[in-house]
Amino acid sequence: KIIDFDISQSASLITDDSIQKLQPHINLAHQLLHEKTGPGKEYLGWLELPSKINKEEIERIKEAALAIREQSDVLVVIGIGGSYLGARAVLELLQPSRLFGTQKGRAKELQVVFAGHQMDADYLYHLKHWLKGKEFSINVISKSGTTTEPAIAFRIFRQLLEERYGDIESRKRIYVTTDARKGALKNLADEKGYQSFIIPDDVGGRYSVFTPVGTLPIAAAGIDIDELLCGAAKAEKSLETPCLKSNAAYRYAAYRSFLYQQGKSIEILASFDSQYHYLCEWWKQLFGESEGKEKKGIFPTSLQYTTDLHSMGQYVQDGRRIVFETVIKTEESKESVLVPDTGDNNDGLEYLKNKELGMINNKALEGTIMAHIDGGVPVGILSVPEKSAFWIGYLMYFFQKSCAISGYMLGVNPFDQPGVEDYKRNMFSLLGKPGTEQLRQELEVKWKK
Ligand code: PA5
Repeated sequence: KIIDFDISQSASLITDDSIQKLQPHINLAHQLLHEKTGPGKEYLGWLELPSKINKEEIERIKEAALAIREQSDVLVVIGIGGSYLGARAVLELLQPSRLFGTQKGRAKELQVVFAGHQMDADYLYHLKHWLKGKEFSINVISKSGTTTEPAIAFRIFRQLLEERYGDIESRKRIYVTTDARKGALKNLADEKGYQSFIIPDDVGGRYSVFTPVGTLPIAAAGIDIDELLCGAAKAEKSLETPCLKSNAAYRYAAYRSFLYQQGKSIEILASFDSQYHYLCEWWKQLFGESEGKEKKGIFPTSLQYTTDLHSMGQYVQDGRRIVFETVIKTEESKESVLVPDTGDNNDGLEYLKNKELGMINNKALEGTIMAHIDGGVPVGILSVPEKSAFWIGYLMYFFQKSCAISGYMLGVNPFDQPGVEDYKRNMFSLLGKPGTEQLRQELEVKWKK
């Protein structure tokens, strides 16, 4: 079993040969990454993280996860961007019944909810009210410790916790994941004695899912983090070679690079399994924030099929030919659902009676891919053996590695995000942050009333 990337269905649009020709560029990118000489080289801690993971830290995470599960019904995970998407992706993929508020076969299960990933007053209001009568803990995650969205949400839920449990007890229900030395969150954690977990200096937010940023909430949800990390370690080893033929992550990076050069500026990550929704969100952040700079980069977007075949499918099939697709294909559905035999053919579906829904969905996948290729959209197929912690760990590392290589092939620093600062500067100034008065005057003139 292996995660593979295959473009053979798209032979009419893109050949293996054209990908192979990129081997020298891949070699160069590989060298920059592995010799740690490329831009952003100070943020390469993720590269060998799975194999070098600190066992004691994992034990501490498991203990904290157990304590959270014993003391609470709900864990409120507060973070934004790379500080929440990885955990959310893993949870949504591996615990589908969460969507319906229950866990299969378990009477009492910790529910993980997210906050601080936006500043939506209605969402926070309703979450606060929903928490009434439920025992809860908080895991606040911020590498910088100063990001506005999680900082505001933390104020709100910390206050709620303190009102509910008092100052001393609430301290035992707050788990902080932040920088080892600096930031407002670090200072607060030290002052209050909150249990803290460290995000290594050399790991950026969107590459941090295998640090406590991801592993604490994932473990608290009851998912086997050893398996997740084991899958990531397996990927680290399997994807070490620069050889395009043997490295599927590099083939994926080369395919993106080739198509970008051909004028394909939008990549759709598509899945026929709705549980991949947040994995796609995580992937969008990973590639968008890593590559979208210096007026360059593929615009990463995602679609959930067959749902979106009834909305965006028209554009993909027939709109501007600037799009290519990467389809995630998981070999089997975990559960079996059959089309009922109703004894009549009023809906014209008699030919499908007693057929597996998974099989039908798979035929939809094959039919869609062929239609899109006929419409001029190159499609690469990323096959994932199964939806398990191990293979999701493998897949996430696969994407991290291909993103770094793809970024280097594009000629950008895949580990910074300078563009994220601009909206913050304006927002702080408009909100009246001391020291930003001059900019505020300029913005107020600019804003059309
Ligand atoms: O990938 C990144 O570095 C960003 O998306 C960050 O994760 C995000 O901005 C949140 O930052 P912080 O963890 O410092 O609050």
